Amino acid sequence: MSKIDLESILSENASKMRPSPARNILAGLNREELISFGGGYPNPETFPVDDLKRIVETLLRESPSSSLQYGPTEGDPKLRRELANRYRSQGVDITKDDIVITTSSQQAIDLCSKIFLNREDTLVCSLPTYFGALQSFWFWGGAPVGVADENNLESTVIKLIEEGRKPKFIYSIPDFQNPSGVTLSLAQRENIIRVARLYDLTIIEDSPYRELRYSGEELPTLLSMDKERVILLGTFSKTLTPGFRLGWIVANPQILDKIVVAKQSADLCASVFDQAIAARYLGDGLFDSNLIKTIELYRGKRELMLECFKRYMPKSVSWTVPEGGLFLFLTLPFGYKSADVLKLTLIENLAFIPGEIFFCNGEGKNTMRINFSYAPNEKIEKGVKILATAIESVISTTPDYR
Ligand SMILES: Cc1ncc(COP(=O)(O)O)c(C=O)c1O
Repeated sequence: MSKIDLESILSENASKMRPSPARNILAGLNREELISFGGGYPNPETFPVDDLKRIVETLLRESPSSSLQYGPTEGDPKLRRELANRYRSQGVDITKDDIVITTSSQQAIDLCSKIFLNREDTLVCSLPTYFGALQSFWFWGGAPVGVADENNLESTVIKLIEEGRKPKFIYSIPDFQNPSGVTLSLAQRENIIRVARLYDLTIIEDSPYRELRYSGEELPTLLSMDKERVILLGTFSKTLTPGFRLGWIVANPQILDKIVVAKQSADLCASVFDQAIAARYLGDGLFDSNLIKTIELYRGKRELMLECFKRYMPKSVSWTVPEGGLFLFLTLPFGYKSADVLKLTLIENLAFIPGEIFFCNGEGKNTMRINFSYAPNEKIEKGVKILATAIESVISTTPDYR
């Protein structure tokens, strides 16, 4: 059989694709004995299996023809109404018409990239930032410019405008960021809004972790600070189940019109059955009680992880203390590579994600993202000991670069 010359027919976008190193590492997750500090996986204990069983059974009995049918691209009106009610109860004044349901927030990021980015278009993001977003920006031809210190946002924007590369948007994860675990202060949020208004920029607020706060004070969403300019992306992945692949976009109607058309060619509509389940789950008032249990579980895991870090980590290592979310971010002394640490920990069946993949400029080789939501408590201490021993070994056997 003759082979096709694939390279000659691939699109330019396909040639820009970058596979996720994290997903390769996670391919090992099925190994029974693996301790994973790797993915952003919710803990399966938080999945409300019994409630979902009951809802599925009811839907199939009462409304099989609508819940198993195609649905509107905008999403199930009941679900959109439930979400709008929830935002309104939190002081964000929106209606169902301000919301489009997506096949998870990853699709929401991709649809935003699809409607905004031309080849070589600039956008501004944090340094580090979520790799799945970078993947999408790169695929659609975008050129992300990372800002390490939020105080430099304005000077970065000014420089880009002077170079004729005005950013199409600012991509931000204000609450418990992936990968850093860091939360933007009120002053930093006000600064993003100020800069966006001053230089007429759109903001994409990616908000998958916002409801998972374990300490500290809740701060306003960027959306609540500017409903015209901010596009908020939400998801059920971290608070209900990632298996549903359900997310949403809140934006002004002009933007949503474009998103809907972009979504039609992607998948026509998000899973109608899953939307019906989620709508009923919210409507029955089950979401908040499960969220409270989830927060309790993760708060305990965060405490345990931080305690173990304090107890076992070498003095030269630093890490963030997240107020919520699923991650903390660890920094080795400059010159040491987390990839070298990973080689050692994988021998001991411990996985984490080297931080470098989250840096759009290739920096961050001495950083790592550590997830604390997934591993069982008894494996957290064991995993931190393995990690600390591997770090000590790399530090003591690698020549000092400074
Ligand atoms: C910041 C951020 N955005 C988006 C996503 C994608 O989530 P999902 O597609 O499951 O909604 C993730 C997943 O971990 C994330 O961390």
